[in-house]
Amino acid sequence: MSNIRGRFQKGADEAAAKYTASISFDWRLYPYDIAGSIAHAKMLAKQGIISSQDAEKITRGLASIKEEIEQGKFQFKPELEDIHMNIEARLIEKVGEAGGKLHTARSRNDQIALDMRLFTMETINYTLLGLKDFQKALISLAEANKEVTMPGYTHLQRAQPVLFAHHLLAYFEMLQRDVDRFNDCLKRTDVMPLGSGAAAGVAYSIDREFLAKELGLRQLSQNSLDAVSDRDFILEYEAAASICMMHLSRLAEEIILWSSSEFDFVELDEAYATGSSIMPQKKNPDIAELVRGKTGRVYGRLLALLTTMKALPLSYNRDLQEDKEGLFDCVDTLLSSLEVFTGMIKTLRVKAENTGRAAGQGYILATDLADYLVRKGAAFRTAHDIVARLVSYAAEKGKSFSELKLTEYKKFSPLFSDDVYSITVESSLTARDNIGGTAPQMVAKALFRARNIAGGN
Ligand code: ARG
Repeated sequence: MSNIRGRFQKGADEAAAKYTASISFDWRLYPYDIAGSIAHAKMLAKQGIISSQDAEKITRGLASIKEEIEQGKFQFKPELEDIHMNIEARLIEKVGEAGGKLHTARSRNDQIALDMRLFTMETINYTLLGLKDFQKALISLAEANKEVTMPGYTHLQRAQPVLFAHHLLAYFEMLQRDVDRFNDCLKRTDVMPLGSGAAAGVAYSIDREFLAKELGLRQLSQNSLDAVSDRDFILEYEAAASICMMHLSRLAEEIILWSSSEFDFVELDEAYATGSSIMPQKKNPDIAELVRGKTGRVYGRLLALLTTMKALPLSYNRDLQEDKEGLFDCVDTLLSSLEVFTGMIKTLRVKAENTGRAAGQGYILATDLADYLVRKGAAFRTAHDIVARLVSYAAEKGKSFSELKLTEYKKFSPLFSDDVYSITVESSLTARDNIGGTAPQMVAKALFRARNIAGGN
């Protein structure tokens, strides 16, 4: 059956019907669709647009449809196109004439806008929970490795020693910006579009405030044309998801590098690594690689919807149906990435001896040597120059800074004296004690702050 063929004498072409149907993916909107319909029916009765007996029948019918769906007993029919039509047809089957009154003062255009908003709001809450768990895992790993040092890198070259916890907390900061972005997106998602009808509003005396209250939404859409065709909230979710995936992908990349024999900084738990089918010695970081790989797919969904929306005339156009698979895929990808990555972080073993050794190797304390000369009165540029020459001298001799004799130091500057040997990884860390620096006391404060923001275990 198809009760929307209206003026048409023919049924839809089979391929065309298949092409336009969305039930294969929009079925998952059923809880929101039903919640929206129940609120709508209550409002219609309260306003005297339908009788309270009819509203009762509708509400009970919808509740039992929800059960049917949840028990796997509901038969979704592709010929009924989408989730709205499937539920409405079943409602009419169950409660008769009263069911046919539900769609009074409503259109599928404002209905789908509502469904998508309710879905996105709930999704944002799950996303925020996922982000919090991830942040907590980072904090726990940082706390468990409070004393561990590693090289801080620029250009993937060893630059200056840092605490491993400091490095991890960089990701805490990124994720906190993600939290802010999703919270911000929530504000513009939290809007009640019912009452916009197909495009121009509805010609009944409805109560939109009541609907918003029933649905737990804070704002009313202010222009019906905009309300039925606005998908900014989905774009915002996808944009925030893209940035968040980019953050995950950066950490994934580091973990991939760190778990290689070249770095050998961490060991993945077996539950989060895979073997090779032909090389028995291998332990591959596939989870991290997939997080990195799936980032591209989330970006793609954002670009796809931006492109779909571009040049769409007001108001509703069927193009908008293309918002769903992309959003669902972004949500599923982001939530599952957060979940597995959290597990991977929780079980990651840090090889502190190796990170510590790397933190002390090479001429990683060169900046500290220059700072030393500055403290003795040299201009920074001059100090930089002196240390640069010292580094090439030492490298040529195959010596580390600590292996150079004081007489050798003195050849480069008379400012060098015995206390040059007190420059160590520890002194380098401790010296960086401004807010945001890697000094142990500052990192301890940063950890405390992060705990306060993300909450306990
Ligand atoms: N399945 C449609 C969508 O996702 C629902 C709205 C259909 N409205 C219409 N006038 N054909 O956008």
